[in-house]
Order: sequence, then structure tokens, then C-alpha cells
Amino acid sequence: MSRGSSRPLTRSRPEDVSSDPKPESLVARGREIDLRHVERGLSEVPDDRFTFILSHATKLVPDRPGLRIADIGCAAGAFLFQARVSYPSAALFGVDILSALVDAAEQLVPHARFFVGDARSPELARLGPVDVGFMVTVHSLFDDVDEWLDPFLSLLGHGGHGFVFGLFNPHPIDVLVKVRRSGSEAPFDPGWNMVSKDTMRRHLGVRGRQVVFDDYRPGTPKLPDPHDPLRSWTEALMTVLPLA
Ligand SMILES: C[S@@+](CC[C@H](N)C(=O)[O-])C[C@H]1O[C@@H](n2cnc3c(N)ncnc32)[C@H](O)[C@@H]1O
Repeated sequence: MSRGSSRPLTRSRPEDVSSDPKPESLVARGREIDLRHVERGLSEVPDDRFTFILSHATKLVPDRPGLRIADIGCAAGAFLFQARVSYPSAALFGVDILSALVDAAEQLVPHARFFVGDARSPELARLGPVDVGFMVTVHSLFDDVDEWLDPFLSLLGHGGHGFVFGLFNPHPIDVLVKVRRSGSEAPFDPGWNMVSKDTMRRHLGVRGRQVVFDDYRPGTPKLPDPHDPLRSWTEALMTVLPLA
């Protein structure tokens, strides 16, 4: 399908997020926890993380008419809502695996076009090539770097820039994490993997791509939420010194 034609990705993917007994297939269909993006909606207050990402992007790729931008794992469109301020002239596209989120995004962010699709599918390339691709707190869902990196790079094409925000281990260890609430019989959820910067450099190096890391420090410390133990918060490092 050619660029700019209607619906390059599917809108009809079935998505029973709760009843599958095989944890591996959860990622293919999305996680129930991500449906909370529908209730969250949009905030008029800019998200500090999005501001950080967009300031990097606009330095390398300033706004201009004709620019094509895609957000993979876009949820209900909050990032693209904020991206419109940095990229007023660009065409914005969002892809998410959960059609409920895509439906919400279409309502909330009418200046962008949204599609149901899988970040790991070669189909993603049909949306491209884009000039700028974003993945914001999504790659930690996947155990295998290649399965999301190859579709992401094929979406970007040769001259495109990609910005992947989330957990990267500064030490040369790749960590896979699955979680579920204590006492629950539900399948374990993915989403907190921490692939190392080293592995990312290697995977991009063999594909002839350069990579630069810039560590994010939250502007305002995030406090733990006693009702949501899965939410991240800022940890402070306290160093106890010996008595003089
Ligand atoms: C942790 S949320 C991040 C949402 C958004 N990028 C943000 O930062 O607010 C992960 C998002 O990725 C989506 N997702 C999960 N698996 C996916 C896949 N295989 N392909 C595309 N999107 C996926 C989820 O539905 C969810 O919206």
C-alpha cells in the first residue's frame, strides 16, 4: 500500500486482554493495565518526559511542512498531543496494539491519524518512511530487541531519526522482568525489561546505525503511590558518612 493511502495498518485486531493462559502472547494483544490511558485522557500540563524527548527531536529534526512523524505504542495519544506544539506543520501518526486506545486517541487528538498495529510487525513499514519515529516506554515490553528494532528501523527508512525512551541498563547486563500482583493467578505481565545500552549499541552497530544515549532526570520527584505499586517513583540516594 502506498504512503498516505488510507489505513495502512489494521483496525480490526481482536483483543481479549485478560483470558489467555500463555503470557508470551499477552504482548501480541496488549495488556489490560494499558487501558487506563483511556481514563487518564489528556493533560494541559506538559509531561516532563515528553518535553525532554521532544527537545532532543526538534534539535535534530526541526519542524517543516511535509515532515512525517510516528509514535509507536501511542496509547490514547498524549505524546502526539504534546508533539503538535513542537511540530505544528508535520503529519502525525500513532500506532497502538489496543483498538480501545486507538479509538480514544482519535477522539482526543484529532490532528493526528491513528492505527491499530503491532510494533513487532513488518506491516509497520507501510506507514513509512517517516522522518521521526518515537517509542516511549514501550520497548521494555519485548524480550527480543530485534523483534521491535527491525520494524522500527524499516519504518524510519534511511534518513529517519528514531527516539526510544525508557529503561536501558548502563551496565552490560540485559534484564527480563515479568510482574503480577501477589496472590493473583493471572498471567505475568511484561513491561519492565531493561536491555543494556551495550546491547543496543551492538544491535544498532551491525545495522550501520549510530546511537546516542542521554539520561533523563525527572524535573519533579515522583512519589510512590500506595494504591498503585506498579507505578514508578523517584528514588533518592542517601549516603551515610562515618562520624568524624
Ligand atoms: C507503557 S504504555 C506507554 C504509552 C505511551 N507511549 C506513553 O508513554 O504514555 C505502552 C503502550 O504500548 C502499547 N503496546 C503494547 N504492546 C504493543 C505492540 N506489540 N505494538 C504496539 N503497541 C503496543 C500499549 O497498548 C500501551 O499503549
